[in-house]
Amino acid sequence: MNKEELIQTATALMAGDKGLLAMDESLPTSNKRFAEAGIPQTEEYRRKYRQLIVTTPGLNESISGAILFDETIYQSTDDGTLFIDVLYKAGIIPGIKVDEGTVDMPGSPKEKITNGLEGLDIRLNNYYGLGARFAKWRAVITIGDGLPTTANIKANAEALAKYARLCQEDDIVPIVEPEVLMDGDHTIDRCYAVTEAAIKELFIQLDAQGVFLPGLILKPNMVIAGRDSKTKNSTDEVAKATVECLLASVPPEVGGVAFLSGGQSPQEATRHLHEMHVLFGDKLPWPLTFSFARAIQQPALDLWKGKDENVVAAQEILAFRASMDSAARAGRYSVDIDI
Ligand code: 13P
Repeated sequence: MNKEELIQTATALMAGDKGLLAMDESLPTSNKRFAEAGIPQTEEYRRKYRQLIVTTPGLNESISGAILFDETIYQSTDDGTLFIDVLYKAGIIPGIKVDEGTVDMPGSPKEKITNGLEGLDIRLNNYYGLGARFAKWRAVITIGDGLPTTANIKANAEALAKYARLCQEDDIVPIVEPEVLMDGDHTIDRCYAVTEAAIKELFIQLDAQGVFLPGLILKPNMVIAGRDSKTKNSTDEVAKATVECLLASVPPEVGGVAFLSGGQSPQEATRHLHEMHVLFGDKLPWPLTFSFARAIQQPALDLWKGKDENVVAAQEILAFRASMDSAARAGRYSVDIDI
């Protein structure tokens, strides 16, 4: 474990007002999003779409790192340049999703655990050789009647911690993502309690695995009411609950915190991040930024529709959304500059 290198990577990912772009949708997720947008679900269309993203002019002004999917790390642009080389040239650090998706938890089938620890050391070694300098593992925690169970929170935290340790052994910065889903009608208070419990357990397990916290990035959900909840909380309430929950559960040594968007609209996710910086700015012990997939990509994907003639417009909206998130991280966002 080269701690210097881990700190260097984590610092570069959290630098300035930038954030991360998650473009690591698995095949089922990618197929679902393409189907909704009327795009053929083939490897070639996935390549074209990821090419659109990595060649977006000006993306590097707001994005420090991009999370790739296994298929994507081997793909190239039309002229044969590997995507990973395009990213390096733009000053964007390539990362890689290394979990192998979720399965029902034995004994509690309404909950999920994440696969992918088997053979992970070998895959990490290979990804480092290909140029990846950080990785991502997503655990999913479900709120429901009697859920989550303590066993589920613990099993997910243990797997995240084992993955994080293996990453650091290979000088790869682990992004640990314990995502509390927005599915359901729960209140913001319930989301707060579950998120706090999940993150606290995660740091217990990270400690047990001897994970080096300055070389680690946490990717949490925002603390927000369930999608079907009758109560809609204000931007202030979400920002305050989220940061208070993180201050209560995330050690100050952690290299950075970068949110997932979780199904919020792009504008909502941006507003919430902005408000956190307005309210807490200099009181935050770690860099606090974004690692969105849908909240950056969705408008571009909808505009592209798989058609070459829409590439430029889709790239413009992609760069624009990323720039709004970067403005939010700086506390400089306003609805007046958004569309
Ligand atoms: P969303 O921003 O769409 O929630 O995705 C983030 C992510 O990387 C999930 O693993």
